[in-house]
Amino acid sequence: MTFRIETQRLILRELRLSDLEGMFELDSNPEVHKYLGNKPIKTKEESLKILEDVINQYTKHGIGRWALINKETQEFMGWSGLKLNTEGHMNGFTEFYDVGYRLIKRFWGKGYATESGKAAVDYAFRVLKLPELYGITEMGNQASHKALLKLGLKYVEDFYYEKEKLKLRWYKIENKELCKNNV
Ligand SMILES: CC(C)(COP(=O)(O)OP(=O)(O)OC[C@H]1O[C@@H](n2cnc3c(N)ncnc32)[C@H](O)[C@@H]1OP(=O)(O)O)[C@@H](O)C(=O)NCCC(=O)NCCS
Repeated sequence: MTFRIETQRLILRELRLSDLEGMFELDSNPEVHKYLGNKPIKTKEESLKILEDVINQYTKHGIGRWALINKETQEFMGWSGLKLNTEGHMNGFTEFYDVGYRLIKRFWGKGYATESGKAAVDYAFRVLKLPELYGITEMGNQASHKALLKLGLKYVEDFYYEKEKLKLRWYKIENKELCKNNV
């Protein structure tokens, strides 16, 4: 069955190669990448690689970020959701799930990160039954900081990410249902 979650204003579904145009609009904008290491992409080939990577994650890990579709207009607005990170050390972790989001600029400030993020946290705890979930932002990314707090994550600490030479912040939320059952 094809994966699909609906929230009040959004459809969350798996990313597809046909999302290429939208992904290019998203990642070629320097403003979108201001707190993502300042490396906007330049070509559609790069977007294609990103899409292929996420699609591989669906197969390999059963999870990956989801496309964010406007229910009313059917527009592609960016992505949101969960990822199993396995690409090396981050704040002492080698394998962890995080919640994240990235929206095309014209869709910022309408609560979509919060709305989609809530669905992702819910999915992480009720469907995947993860014991905990993490969030990461670059220092100064107030929008992302606020969105993570609104999802119920707690700020834990700042850390230096050597690989990208970035100052990042680390957030965490625990699965309360799972904790209760384990008592
Ligand atoms: C971060 C991002 C996803 C937020 O998306 P969004 O849909 O605009 O966020 P929301 O509307 O759900 O807002 C969440 C909170 O942040 C606040 N906020 C939004 N933009 C803000 C800004 N530029 N500065 C300060 N606060 C901001 C909102 O007001 C809201 O808080 P409130 O309810 O207390 O008012 C979006 O700005 C984005 O795509 N940025 C570029 C990519 C990126 O940085 N991704 C996160 C990487 S960790």
